[in-house]
Amino acid sequence: MRLVILPNYDAVSDWVADYVRRRVLDFAPSAKRPFVLGLPTGGSPLGTYRRLAEFYRRGELSFKHVVTFNMDEYVGLPPDHPESYHSYMEKHFFSRVDIDRRRTHVLDGNAADLNEECRRYEERIAAVGGIELFLGGIGPDGHIAFNEPGSSLASRTRVKTLAYDTIVANSRFFGGDVDQVPKLALTIGVGTFMDAREVLIIISGLAKAHALYNAIECGVNHMWTVSMVQMHPHATIVCDEDATAELRVRTVNYFKGIEKMLARQPTYPMAPKSFPLGPAARAGRINTRRRSRSE
Ligand code: GLP
Repeated sequence: MRLVILPNYDAVSDWVADYVRRRVLDFAPSAKRPFVLGLPTGGSPLGTYRRLAEFYRRGELSFKHVVTFNMDEYVGLPPDHPESYHSYMEKHFFSRVDIDRRRTHVLDGNAADLNEECRRYEERIAAVGGIELFLGGIGPDGHIAFNEPGSSLASRTRVKTLAYDTIVANSRFFGGDVDQVPKLALTIGVGTFMDAREVLIIISGLAKAHALYNAIECGVNHMWTVSMVQMHPHATIVCDEDATAELRVRTVNYFKGIEKMLARQPTYPMAPKSFPLGPAARAGRINTRRRSRSE
């Protein structure tokens, strides 16, 4: 795992947006071979979305051949509710770039059959050959998407009851009223996230310091679902100094030292053109035929 420690939130956003830009450009997506990007919501990726939109405005990046899959959505909020993740994505990203809306996917928390909606979401991911790069954020309890503590580390897209901590944390978007926060959500599973060829997690602020400590210095544990990234062959966490507050000085110095070494290698390949699929895909749980034909 790579841990990139930067001075503050703005530096984190710059780094992540630039990384996404270079990955997409390096992939050279086309209509037949789009770049498949997994996307989060929340405060953590806002700066990244802003910078990605700037790249688009300056003509440095196009999302024309990018397909997106979002991590999660609340159950029962109308899609045009200001706090739905549909609205969030439209407001902060989709409306600001040249993405084709037919190629964006956000779970439908109002589907008549929620289980069927989750099953079909996995199918849609498989149909485009899996996710190339999944961006994520975490909750203060270390949840990834809405995979709350105790979620199966092999879980797939499904309906999830939200933890009280998450409801309280997210009530800031609902006028501070916990009663207004939906109690159920649809979420990709930890297994769905792990199937991506590459994962990148944004962690910022003191409130996430204990979660980062559990992700980096403790073992893989279902009570901190983000810790599962230790098992991913191509995982990066990008964090700010505040988020490192509970890491050992030695751990911080170790990862900073690695980045210093990397910076001295101008020709260091940022990432292979396309990473191999994660374990579930290799075991045949998702259909990789389309991807292997085009590569
Ligand atoms: C919600 C989302 C998560 C997100 C988390 C953290 O719970 N479902 O995907 O990572 O919020 O949000 P923030 O970045 O605002 O702290």
